[in-house]
Amino acid sequence: MKASEDQYPFLRACRRQPTEYTPIWLMRQAGRYLKEYRALRKKYSFLEMCKNPELAAQVTLQPIDKFKLDAAIIFSDILIPLGPMGVEFEFAKGEGPVFRHPLRERKDVERLRIIEPEEDVSFLLKAIQIVRKELEGKIPLIGFCGAPFTLASYLIEGGHSRDYLLTKSMMYQDHATWNIFMEKISEVLIRYLNAQIRAGVQAVQVFDSWVGCLSPRDYEGYVLPYSKKVMDGVGKQVPLIHFATSSSTLLELMKRAGGDVIGVDWRVDISEAWTRLGHHVAIQGNLDPVILFGSVDLIQKEVKRILRGVEGRPGHIFNLGHGILPNTPVDHVAALVNMVHEYSSR
Ligand code: CP3
Repeated sequence: MKASEDQYPFLRACRRQPTEYTPIWLMRQAGRYLKEYRALRKKYSFLEMCKNPELAAQVTLQPIDKFKLDAAIIFSDILIPLGPMGVEFEFAKGEGPVFRHPLRERKDVERLRIIEPEEDVSFLLKAIQIVRKELEGKIPLIGFCGAPFTLASYLIEGGHSRDYLLTKSMMYQDHATWNIFMEKISEVLIRYLNAQIRAGVQAVQVFDSWVGCLSPRDYEGYVLPYSKKVMDGVGKQVPLIHFATSSSTLLELMKRAGGDVIGVDWRVDISEAWTRLGHHVAIQGNLDPVILFGSVDLIQKEVKRILRGVEGRPGHIFNLGHGILPNTPVDHVAALVNMVHEYSSR
């Protein structure tokens, strides 16, 4: 770690060191709510933008040029490593990701390839290098991946799901296939995160967006060992944020799986979440993204409530409870960032 890295409020908060103000970044901060993003999307598809290092770097920096954010997150997607694993998918308009041949059987799982990131996702690693150069000395860059369960759910369901019927059915009924599947995804994710770290990201976030559909028992038995394996596979090289939604029943288990920072959504009170987790782990969250559609007064009230909840304790990173939504008013995002800095100033 360079001496200067110690000065970034975001990295200091990840390590629960005191900061002059609470750092803030926003999940999905580069995206459709920005007119600059929409202008580029008229010319390129989402995947084209992810796979072009210059464009991905440019999009990563769009929100940084507009708002006083304390971290950047590389523009990419949790599904990107699945392509080189041998899985075809596309982003259908208005539908999200669609997989043409979902994985349902042992032979589908056995066919999955273990990736070589330096060859298979060189565009992402190049984008990271470009952004690091552009950001030097300003703010740190976050890399990321999906967690094994969330990625498995896309691969098995073939897209987004309401009840995770097929994913849970494999989990409950065909342990051997489930285990091979989760092993393979975990191995890929360890390689994928380590390659991002070698390319220059200064923190990583693991998104387990859909794991909240599981009971604590099932999470512990079928999922935790693999999430843990991925996070152990990163070690202590850079701070790691472990995020999930609808996870208030899983917090203690998520902490056991790993992470220097636990990311929580708005469904749980942040002070209660932190008490349950224990204060020897940092916390990220947890404004409801829909609050940004309300008045500035409402945003102010909610920011103050969250900051009151954490009582100025070191180790809080302000964020939304889930990704920022398309159509979010841009001036409200600017107001939010400034409010968090101003009200937490110490
Ligand atoms: O945070 C950032 O700014 C970095 C970029 C980022 C994207 N996706 C860009 C994106 C990150 C960190 C993600 C993570 C991601 N992707 C998650 C986990 C976070 C979460 O929201 O729970 C998930 C589940 C995905 C999968 C995914 N990608 C879905 C379901 C969709 C379609 C739904 C949607 O929001 O459009 C995407 C597409 C996607 N990923 C877009 C962006 C900017 C929109 C693409 C477009 O049409 O321009």
